[in-house]
Amino acid sequence: MTDQPDLSTTAGKIADLRNRYQEAVLDAETTARDKQHAKGKLTARERIELLVDPGSFVEFDEYVRHRTTAFGMERSRPYGDSVVTGTGTIHGRTVAVYAQDFSTFGGSLGEVAGDKIIKVMEFALRGGMPIIGMLDSGGARIQEGVVALGKYGEIFRLNTAASGVIPQISIIMGPAAGGAVYSPALTDFVIMVDKTSQMFVTGPDVIKTVTGEDVGMEELGGAHTHNTRSGVAHYLAEDEDDALDYARTLIGFLPDNNMAELPRYENEFEWETTDADRGLNTLIPDSANQPYDMHQVISRLVDAGDFLEVQPLFAPNILIGFGRMEGRTIGIIANQPSQMAGTLNIEAGEKASRFVRFCDAFSIPIVTLVDVPGYLPGTDQEWTGVIRRGAKLLYAYAEATVPLVTVILRKAYGGAYIVMGSKQLGADVNLAWPTAEIAVMGGQGAVNILYRGEIKRAEAAGEDVAAVRTRLATEYTYNVASPFLAAERGELDGIIEPAQTRVSVAKALRSLRGKRASLPPKKHGNIPL
Ligand code: HXC
Repeated sequence: MTDQPDLSTTAGKIADLRNRYQEAVLDAETTARDKQHAKGKLTARERIELLVDPGSFVEFDEYVRHRTTAFGMERSRPYGDSVVTGTGTIHGRTVAVYAQDFSTFGGSLGEVAGDKIIKVMEFALRGGMPIIGMLDSGGARIQEGVVALGKYGEIFRLNTAASGVIPQISIIMGPAAGGAVYSPALTDFVIMVDKTSQMFVTGPDVIKTVTGEDVGMEELGGAHTHNTRSGVAHYLAEDEDDALDYARTLIGFLPDNNMAELPRYENEFEWETTDADRGLNTLIPDSANQPYDMHQVISRLVDAGDFLEVQPLFAPNILIGFGRMEGRTIGIIANQPSQMAGTLNIEAGEKASRFVRFCDAFSIPIVTLVDVPGYLPGTDQEWTGVIRRGAKLLYAYAEATVPLVTVILRKAYGGAYIVMGSKQLGADVNLAWPTAEIAVMGGQGAVNILYRGEIKRAEAAGEDVAAVRTRLATEYTYNVASPFLAAERGELDGIIEPAQTRVSVAKALRSLRGKRASLPPKKHGNIPL
């Protein structure tokens, strides 16, 4: 029992503050630690301390308490309620944070926990700083009913208002159930911790009752599921440390807000061709059907080979992520020939289009690396909306006003050529390697249509039809798909040796630093959703 301080004196008032702080923060933290550590999880404050620079956390609202009386709630009114909020720094730059505290009412969100989150989000918006939310919650506080639901509504509205203004990152470190999943879904990046995080709109019990399906929590909405199948998550963290580390690294690439400069890092850019650059001259196999790993190109392009891949496990036929050139952030979008031959499908289109829009909103120049044989054919794609959903990537590129630099490495066929940052869609600098093939369709497909008669004649004459086909396809690729044809038409600004790529792209980005472009005035466009 602490002695009651004499509140008529200054010393007594300070002692009273210390006592209250002890109860509100330090004692609460001890209780939280016992509960969370028993589940192999950290407490809300421990998570924040690991996320931000040591000693930089400034807590808000630690004395807030709920006022609910329903279901005997007045008997338990813990300080701070079920969420810890405040600001801290990451790499010296201020961010706003909140971390739900599962040890208090299961991290559930009632009126005051909602108000705390809303306050820190508004603070972040006003101050133009990124916000990082750590979710670990049973969702809307059941005892508070519609008031709790209303707070979620306010949070969703703020998430939407903040979209494209400040970077928003969600780290899922426990359950995120019911409508509560839609706050992270509205943010820019969702990081999930393997085994200990779940996201679902309706849980396994409800699913069993309504549809009869038997599915476990992990399979339904675990980190693996959302990183590989649904595309809801952008990074699968092996544990909480890994999740916080990824968020810190990510922040290092992002500006504070949409009006702020991109972060810049010291970098001695090598303007001479290096051995690593020369390695690109032997990367493309002689056979057009042989795959290679696009990571090899990206790692040779970005400063120190440092590429932060986003959504690496979802739609791996397209790669997205951040790197730096001359110490400045760039966004990279690249087809991946080693996965499904780099074809575009619905998932790849949606993954890339959201990334283009993020980069565009935050003035991050985009470098596009193209090696795409076309769209994935099939009824599954057509019937699940490749037209509507595939249009998003066109829309995103066409709307983007950031510097756009595109390099065609090998295949660029049909609509896929257009969509992957082509000149007509608005790219500023378009380059190609001499290995590029740009045409309406690939050689074999074109021969079937253009040389139908010739092939029939060869068949009738008993010639080796396969050899005739190959000869015609090779001629077509050489004559029609040659990058020099595109260069002659000004569709490309230059054809470069692969070894010149890093320096050429850096020069292009330099020349575009002052780019100004704007769209016609409108309330907002109507992207096909
Ligand atoms: C109030 C809650 C709560 C909630 C958990 N608790 N969820 N209290 N409202 N939503 C409390 C529990 O009563 C318990 O209190 C403590 O938190 C820990 O919960 P446990 O169940 O013991 O933990 P665990 O076994 O780990 O299970 C976690 C859980 C489960 C899977 C999240 O608690 C659960 O299913 N909760 C309900 C989830 C849900 O359906 N929420 C509503 C979703 S709809 P004691 O005192 O015993 O420690 C929604 C709408 C959002 O959120 C609106 C947006 C439009």
